[in-house]
Amino acid sequence: MKGKFITFEGGDGAGKSLQIEKVAQYLRSIGKEVIVTREPGGTEVGKEIRRLLVEGDKDKFDEIAEVLLFYADRRIHLEKKIKPAINEGKYVLSDRYNDSTIAYQFYGSNKFNDTKILDELYKIIAGDFKPDATVLLDVDVELGLKRSFKKAETTNTKELRFENVELAFHQRLKNGYLELAKKDPNRFVVVNANNSVEEVYEELIEKLKTKL
Ligand code: TMP
Repeated sequence: MKGKFITFEGGDGAGKSLQIEKVAQYLRSIGKEVIVTREPGGTEVGKEIRRLLVEGDKDKFDEIAEVLLFYADRRIHLEKKIKPAINEGKYVLSDRYNDSTIAYQFYGSNKFNDTKILDELYKIIAGDFKPDATVLLDVDVELGLKRSFKKAETTNTKELRFENVELAFHQRLKNGYLELAKKDPNRFVVVNANNSVEEVYEELIEKLKTKL
């Protein structure tokens, strides 16, 4: 029996990691084998790529270099972790996947005329492979960034390369995500992520159950 691939998307501070843990708990309670992973950084090599991508100054490299690193991370993630687990019948929950690249590097950065290059790169690394379902946690930009900076303070993280980009970038990627969801309603569930963790989870799990 094949497993499933479920991805979680949203702007910074949308609360993905808390919700993923709750969904993992639910799936385990109904007898599924679950692994939780993330992008960038879902593999050992990926962790090294992640550090390059999420730490330091936004302008240390441009969108082209950035995109190639994200796809390198994704390729390794798919081949070494995601596909083998699905073939063993596991449910793979990933904190971010390809929609992040379209949202951040296409809609957010505004440096590509269209998604052609990104779509081509995706085909090269993944072919026709797609998530079975994608949860979009839609959070107000200012609230999300506030949560993100607060978390960064308590965890002492240096991973703020994208959070430090201008507000308009975050607004564009939020709208971009909503557009992606509108274009692919069979795959996406959109959840209002401005509420408490419990309220968000209730809405999320009801909607996600229809895709499982
Ligand atoms: P995280 O903080 O949610 O783990 O994600 C790391 C950062 O990387 C986050 O700010 C979003 C960004 N990102 C992209 O810009 N493009 C991508 O393709 C991915 C996977 C993440």
